[in-house]
Amino acid sequence: MRVSVLGLGYVGCVSAACLASMGHEVIGVDVNQVKVDLVNDGKAPVVEERIGELTAEVVRSGALRATTDVREAIMGSEVSLICVGTPSAPNGSLCTTYLERVTEEIGAAVAERGGRQTVVFRSTMLPGTCLNLLVPILEKHAGGTAGVDFGVAVNPEFLREGTSVRDFFDPPKTVIGQLDAESGDVVAALYEGLPGEVFRVPVPAAEAIKYADNAFHGLKIGFANELGAVCQALGVDSHQVMDVFLADRKLNISSAYLRPGFAFGGSCLPKDLRSLVHAAQRADVSVPILAHVLPSNSDHLQRAVDLVERTGKRRVGLFGLSFKPGTDDLRESPLVELAERLFGKGYELKIHDANVSLSRLMGANREYIETRLPHLAQLLADSVDEVIEHAEVCLVGTKDPAVLAALPHGEGPVLIDLIRLPDAEARRAEPGYMGLAW
Ligand SMILES: NC(=O)c1ccc[n+]([C@@H]2O[C@H](COP(=O)([O-])OP(=O)(O)OC[C@H]3O[C@@H](n4cnc5c(N)ncnc54)[C@H](O)[C@@H]3O)[C@@H](O)[C@H]2O)c1
Repeated sequence: MRVSVLGLGYVGCVSAACLASMGHEVIGVDVNQVKVDLVNDGKAPVVEERIGELTAEVVRSGALRATTDVREAIMGSEVSLICVGTPSAPNGSLCTTYLERVTEEIGAAVAERGGRQTVVFRSTMLPGTCLNLLVPILEKHAGGTAGVDFGVAVNPEFLREGTSVRDFFDPPKTVIGQLDAESGDVVAALYEGLPGEVFRVPVPAAEAIKYADNAFHGLKIGFANELGAVCQALGVDSHQVMDVFLADRKLNISSAYLRPGFAFGGSCLPKDLRSLVHAAQRADVSVPILAHVLPSNSDHLQRAVDLVERTGKRRVGLFGLSFKPGTDDLRESPLVELAERLFGKGYELKIHDANVSLSRLMGANREYIETRLPHLAQLLADSVDEVIEHAEVCLVGTKDPAVLAALPHGEGPVLIDLIRLPDAEARRAEPGYMGLAW
């Protein structure tokens, strides 16, 4: 394919040289004449493992050349990868100035060129930037409709600076945010033959995936370093701890606990986080990440209360009360905390949890409920229907099959889904459905 790469920084010059080495005919573009001259001399404008040799090779073979002229590059290509910088503005917001400018120039050249150009944004940008900001610019300057007259895709870059050439040929994944299938096909064809899974998703999802990755990577490093500092203060070798931590592929290095859902609770996580943070503070070790896990959890729980408030309704039903499905353990249950916050705000609450009712019937947890939660005990309903009949809003915090089967569709009480119900994807389109964080 004939490819133009706009922006010859770390991302652009690696993409340009690697695509050229895969057999594509590539024109690189940069506003910086020095970078353009370097490329045309067969030299890489950045320092990276293998990029020097690769650039020399593909420039010598004629597969890669560079120019400062966007128009010339668009005329000579059918797909354009935009790799310009998106730095932080002084207030922390994303600076899209370079993206906007280059998009205007591409749009004008596309209008002149005719034919279907596919414009692929590789720069990191917040969800919504492509569809709400850049597509309108392209449509204005190119004079057509995105997805019809020209293609648009977002294809974030997941390569590590330093080893990005190696990573390019063995990527962790390829993500294609496609406006339409044809746009996605063009991007997929660009990388054909490379290993790794290819994910074709809506444009805003592709934009968000890059942020999920980078936020998580930063969080991982911050977590490991804070834990290291605490271990050091307590006289424990943090690397020995992490070696064992990392060997656990069931709960630690796995997909466990990584899907948005309800707040955590129970008899261990809150207590152990509290005492770890306390120990760190006593040792004068600053652990802002660990110290903010419980406040973050509490804020998440508050989102459920805020959603109830947003409905403006007063009669509320809650399904689920114990901290984990299939148990009657109410100690530090986040659903108990939620019920208490709603009760405190004067909502007319009815609660159903089959396990809690059963244990109350058998007397097992009766004392705990009746002495520690007497205000909630009187709100417990023995049947699912009793709650549905009472409620104008239902909070669903359990996957109990009897509850799932009874939940209405489209009519009846507003449903606030705390746990991502099995049919949440379909329900998201229904009126009266609210997901807690989806
Ligand atoms: N550096 C990385 O490892 C990495 C990894 C993944 C994603 N990203 C993202 O990729 C994007 C680019 O990052 P980078 O590190 O390569 O940036 P960079 O600053 O190294 O390079 C950007 C290049 O774009 C050029 N440019 C600016 N405006 C232009 C225009 N109108 N026309 C042509 N060229 C123009 C600049 O002169 C510069 O050479 C950013 O959004 C970044 O967040 C970077």
